[in-house]
Amino acid sequence: MKRFQDKVVLVTGGSRNTGLDIVEKFYREGATVYMCGSSEDSTTKGAAILAERGCTGVHSIPCNVADLEQVKHLFDVIEKEAGRLDILVNNAAHQGIGKPFVEMAPEYVMEVLGVNVRGGFQVTQQAVNRFFLKQSDRGVVVFLSSNTAQRAIRNRTAYCASKGAINSMVRSLALDLAPLGIRVNACAPGYIYTERWDALSEEVKTRRRMNCPLRKEASGKDIANVVAFLASSESSNMTGEIVTCDAGCSCQHMPEDVDF
Ligand SMILES: NC(=O)c1ccc[n+]([C@@H]2O[C@H](COP(=O)([O-])OP(=O)(O)OC[C@H]3O[C@@H](n4cnc5c(N)ncnc54)[C@H](OP(=O)(O)O)[C@@H]3O)[C@@H](O)[C@H]2O)c1
Repeated sequence: MKRFQDKVVLVTGGSRNTGLDIVEKFYREGATVYMCGSSEDSTTKGAAILAERGCTGVHSIPCNVADLEQVKHLFDVIEKEAGRLDILVNNAAHQGIGKPFVEMAPEYVMEVLGVNVRGGFQVTQQAVNRFFLKQSDRGVVVFLSSNTAQRAIRNRTAYCASKGAINSMVRSLALDLAPLGIRVNACAPGYIYTERWDALSEEVKTRRRMNCPLRKEASGKDIANVVAFLASSESSNMTGEIVTCDAGCSCQHMPEDVDF
């Protein structure tokens, strides 16, 4: 029997990059998978990529997670079609790239927090109230955080703040939901190879890899493996944990080439 046979999984932000690998992982391990991108166009594109990879039965429904009405609609569809939900993966993220603090409008900060924090909160609340609490075998939540919640990167104030908030939310939800039989954990990646890396020069890629004690960034599959572990019964005694997957970046004070 496959690990996620008979499980219904929702992966937000399943339309690109790491989200595609997370969707594929659950699909190949037997789950019925629902995924969303933020728009009709991106969700359709994501579904087409998944179909090319052989994941033809994935259910794709556009949903901007920052918009409660769209979130409710997504859950209406899951309720009507699947009638249950076992695993929620809060992967959708606004990357908040390229705005130095001195130029960052407060509205932009709220836009990033709206997707990453409010989005994760309201999707989780729907999952818990509409499904998990009504099911005898409850459910599991996995958030995608980031190692930047602990060690900041430049010009990403809103993003780093949002991931710090996610870590705190994970611990808080874990406490509130543990007595109800619901586990909440997070995977905190470091560098992941995404399509954004395709635009980088070899020199920059090499420099980034020099930053990693293991000398390599994660693949989307590496992250999907951690997410699947946290969603599975193999982690049944874990809740409120932030599991870092960053090639050892977080354990070093300085990269090797400046560590004299
Ligand atoms: N990449 C890294 O190096 C890295 C490092 C640490 C942590 N992480 C975290 O790991 C996760 C995956 O990263 P990634 O780089 O693969 O992400 P990504 O390439 O930026 O993709 C983000 C996904 O989220 C979706 N999304 C964005 N805004 C949304 C909204 N309002 N509603 C619904 N979906 C929305 C996107 O959909 P559209 O296609 O519609 O835009 C896309 O599917 C994220 O949580 C990220 O913060 C990534």
